[in-house]
Amino acid sequence: MEVTPVSDIMGAEVTGVDLSVPMDAETQCALRDAFLKYQVLVIRDQHLTPLQQVEFSSQWGELEIPDNVQHTHGDSNRVMILSNEIRPDGSAVGVVDGGDFWHSDSSHHTVPSMITILQSVRHPSKGGDTEFCNMYKVYEDLPEETKAKIEGKLGVHHVSKVKNKRVTVSPDRPGAKDFYEMQAKTREDVLQPLVLTHPETGRKALYCSPRFTLGIQGMTEEEADPILDELFGYITDRKRRWHYRHKWQDNDLVFWDNRCVCHRAVGGYGLPDIRCLHRTVVAGDRAYTDQQAA
Ligand code: SIN
Repeated sequence: MEVTPVSDIMGAEVTGVDLSVPMDAETQCALRDAFLKYQVLVIRDQHLTPLQQVEFSSQWGELEIPDNVQHTHGDSNRVMILSNEIRPDGSAVGVVDGGDFWHSDSSHHTVPSMITILQSVRHPSKGGDTEFCNMYKVYEDLPEETKAKIEGKLGVHHVSKVKNKRVTVSPDRPGAKDFYEMQAKTREDVLQPLVLTHPETGRKALYCSPRFTLGIQGMTEEEADPILDELFGYITDRKRRWHYRHKWQDNDLVFWDNRCVCHRAVGGYGLPDIRCLHRTVVAGDRAYTDQQAA
């Protein structure tokens, strides 16, 4: 197995492994080391069936069962389909607007996702990249004054897009507005530390995102907004100083560490061009607020 960095900032390509067969303990260990060191791993030319993807993903921990059952794969309810394909009856084959704003997966849950694993099944002729932001580097780059302002503070996270003035609801996803309105009514806010000490590496990372973080506990909107805008400015930074952009090929398998990485689907494609990925998610093993309370 060889590990080659894909940028100076984060990410590495791993070659010499076949993920469709079980890995020996030594390879597994080397892959975990690379994962913790580079945060995003790219493994090309993998042809995993949904069940093989589940098998590979399960080596990293327990898998989440996606909420939206109608977009899971027929072979396994652990595999969610991300796709812009619309059936003749108007229904969507997969999640159409998945990841369209910067976020860390499921930070709106008390126990957020740990690792997200995507395999490209079909790639559009143009567009469809995924961008990643290294949240360790962002944290390290913050002015000391900002670090002091956010130390020990908790961000307020919510899944509903209609509660969040920084995002919009995609017109391409059938029924999206009703779905997010229902979530606004039925889901509670969740608190997460703004600075997360990674449970395995011990490094500090900024932990918030324009998609899910709406405020800061104990602050008014007027107090929290300038701080959040400053923090989000590092993630959306035009110069992309702390970022890696993955240009997909069919059969790429990419996975990342949600504890220290924000990501977004860049878009830039449209029907009849189809983008389809299979997504599995390793569940988190702890609530971060239990570990590092304000
Ligand atoms: C995601 O946010 O999990 C999906 C990212 C993508 O589709 O590029």
